Amino acid sequence: MTKKLIAGNWKMNGGLDANQALVLELLAGIGQPACDVAVCPPAPYLGQVQLLLAGSKAVELGAQDVSRHESGAYTGDVSAAMLKDFGVRYCIVGHSERRQHQAESDVHVALKVQRALAAGITPIVCVGETLREREEGMTEFIVKRQLSAVVHLNGHCISEIVVAYEPVWAIGTGQTATPSQAQQVHAVLRAQLKAATEHAERVRILYGGSMNAANAAELLAQPDIDGGLIGGASLKAPDFLKIVAAAG
Ligand code: PGA
Repeated sequence: MTKKLIAGNWKMNGGLDANQALVLELLAGIGQPACDVAVCPPAPYLGQVQLLLAGSKAVELGAQDVSRHESGAYTGDVSAAMLKDFGVRYCIVGHSERRQHQAESDVHVALKVQRALAAGITPIVCVGETLREREEGMTEFIVKRQLSAVVHLNGHCISEIVVAYEPVWAIGTGQTATPSQAQQVHAVLRAQLKAATEHAERVRILYGGSMNAANAAELLAQPDIDGGLIGGASLKAPDFLKIVAAAG
């Protein structure tokens, strides 16, 4: 069975002192987790967190975004090769906050996935519907459309990705999808992956959206929920550690 993955998405939070305190507290409490664990700090702190994690096998480094371009005149972008230089193992791609605020399209997301894979970085590809789309009964259509763009461009190595189902209405709202709501969408995504690769069972499909210490165990017990992408609760070491323990 594939190991579960718990990834912390720090978003645009933290600073040198806060990062150090958080990582040291995580390392002090984590022991030998049964699942894979990653933290995704903002890009300027990747070097700092890489050094803090050096020597730890328990926690790996992730980034929150990657350029869809390889190199060159793209002011402000950070390439996959640059992330790789700092020991980045995972990269969140297509988070709904980027789709919404940075106008990232399905095609942009697919290109970013391609860049990450080419650099040997595992993309964590986010998909998810807005509240309005859910209310209009479009959830399946939306998540399938978002994933199919990624499959279309990266079909040959699609089993190398991680998918994160993050209903937009559940992100940062405290309103979590129920375990059965989440499982239903995860099953749809699994079926879509099965049509693209014989290794679909190996692809980890994470749930994200107000996952916390109290609700993690029940979500992670669902057959197609293979881990979590954790925002708010990843900034508090005790909460994040409880979620890691729930994934054991
Ligand atoms: P949240 O964020 O846990 O704060 O809802 C999850 C995410 O956006 O990845």
